[in-house]
Amino acid sequence: MCGIVGYVGEKHKTTEVLLTGLKALEYRGYDSAGMAYFIEDTIKVSKEVGRVQNLEKLLQEENATIGIAHTRWATHGEVTKENAHPHTQNKFTIVHNGIIENYQELKDNLTKKGYLFQSKTDTEVLAALLDFLYKKENDILKAINQLKDYVDGSYALGILCLDDKDTLYAIRKDSPLIVGIEEKDSFIASDVPAILKYTNQYILLENNEIVTLSKQGYTIYNEKLEKQEKEVLTFEGDITSAEKCGYEHFMLKEIYEQPEIVKNLVDYYLNLENNDFSDRLPSLLKYKKIHVVACGSAYHTGLVFKSLMEEYAEVETIVEVASEYRYKKNFYDQDTLVLVISQSGETADTLAALRKAKTDHIDTLAIVNVVGSSIAREADQVLYIYAGCEIAVATTKAYSAQLALLSLLALKLAYEKKLITKEQKQSILQGYIHIDKKMKKLLNQDYEKIVKRIYNRQDIFFIGRGIDYSMSMEGALKLKEISYINAVSYAAGELKHGTISLIEQNTPVIAINTSEHLKEKTISNIKEVKSRGAMVIYITNEDIEGDFYDEKIVIEKTSMFLQSLLTIIPLQLIAYYTAKQNGCDIDKPKNLAKSVTVE
Ligand code: AGP
Repeated sequence: MCGIVGYVGEKHKTTEVLLTGLKALEYRGYDSAGMAYFIEDTIKVSKEVGRVQNLEKLLQEENATIGIAHTRWATHGEVTKENAHPHTQNKFTIVHNGIIENYQELKDNLTKKGYLFQSKTDTEVLAALLDFLYKKENDILKAINQLKDYVDGSYALGILCLDDKDTLYAIRKDSPLIVGIEEKDSFIASDVPAILKYTNQYILLENNEIVTLSKQGYTIYNEKLEKQEKEVLTFEGDITSAEKCGYEHFMLKEIYEQPEIVKNLVDYYLNLENNDFSDRLPSLLKYKKIHVVACGSAYHTGLVFKSLMEEYAEVETIVEVASEYRYKKNFYDQDTLVLVISQSGETADTLAALRKAKTDHIDTLAIVNVVGSSIAREADQVLYIYAGCEIAVATTKAYSAQLALLSLLALKLAYEKKLITKEQKQSILQGYIHIDKKMKKLLNQDYEKIVKRIYNRQDIFFIGRGIDYSMSMEGALKLKEISYINAVSYAAGELKHGTISLIEQNTPVIAINTSEHLKEKTISNIKEVKSRGAMVIYITNEDIEGDFYDEKIVIEKTSMFLQSLLTIIPLQLIAYYTAKQNGCDIDKPKNLAKSVTVE
């Protein structure tokens, strides 16, 4: 979604820092870009629809000093230059990430006070409100600090005011914002990759904190406008985590990083010397019921977790998409754990579901990638997956790392409940230690033949049972989000209740079949579509010959706790190469954003 970057300093050229930041934020998804900076006593604003490159063409060599910049993912008002950020009202020019829920009411009141609006955005209303409050208070800090008394919604704001050409102001509430530090130079940004070229030192702003950046450095204020000392954090990844490193796309790079990331995660959450779990892996023994809440691919990892928890640890596990969960009646109690899963840790619906559970005093555990993100900070307990920066909109490495961690939680519980023996546990743990090598083998297979059979098709079906059904959901999501082919997943046994009417001569069906106890059942369902003309691509862990498929991908057989870490690789690579064959913008699929910070 929207991205913000801002810079004050003497070491670098302002417009260059802002453009670098915007390019690094492109992965969040956007449809227009803009920037504003001081040229002596005036603020110059440039904006353009489309890619950051379009904005770059507008910028001439100028001695900008202090600047803010923005990539916009349209919410209020269509994709036009007028609606692109920055927005100016009288003395204030601002960039904004978030949503102002009561913007219409504010707009009506400000219109009555004489403000005129050029755009349809909620952001321009904030610029006018700031100007109004400033006229009342005659103090920029106080005006910014009063926003919270008027505004419902979320905002991270970069602010320039004509009356103070030496300072960049910023504030956040429920939208992420960090402050980057490079000696006396300082930055604001939606996330670390935007500033990583210059510094890996940063501070996480809390809700309602205000920061001022000037050439003398930065100052952070709390909501009483008292100065704050904040911990300076070091981003552990290096710049290569935000670079393609020779790969054609971030998605491909991230797919190839998976074995290493899973290996590191296993090292972290296991005690390899004792072939046991490490103390870092919590016990879920005290819970009788688990509610897993997440969106998109994270929701799909929750479904795999459900199968493992119910099958092996015998705990009822309910998995729901956060956008539904947050608004429904939930039947939980003190024996329930609400487990939220999120790569970004900023997904609005997941965050809202977490807050709902917390308000109801239910224990919460978050599985998150981005360190210090809102979900990570607000959950009672957080487990990080340490997958590093994930840049491609389509998640791959975070998905696998989530799978690995969730499966370890289920395995630990099954063992604690004595539903598996010590010997079984140790043999499965050995599987975790070697899973990276098996993943690597699958990365090196050739999927071209399969891609040739599907890249020009309009509809593709994915089917499976149990865990394989959850995997088919992820396979379909990967394919549709980056190749724009309509891919749908079905529980294999459900097809004949309606969907099978869509199967015609040559309809592609990708059938996943790895669960021992469901194997024959799934084969029967595959035969049902095959006999109606389907072109079947069979993904299995048992190399049996048969006439019920047209193409076969064989993955190694392993424990069901680990099997999905292998199944996912062909699915990701088929999606990737299909999208590539179709010339799609793989890392930045149309209409999508990396982290969905609006509901
Ligand atoms: C998957 O490839 C997606 N881009 C999307 O479904 C994503 O998993 C979802 O938006 C949840 O994001 P989160 O993990 O950051 O909460």
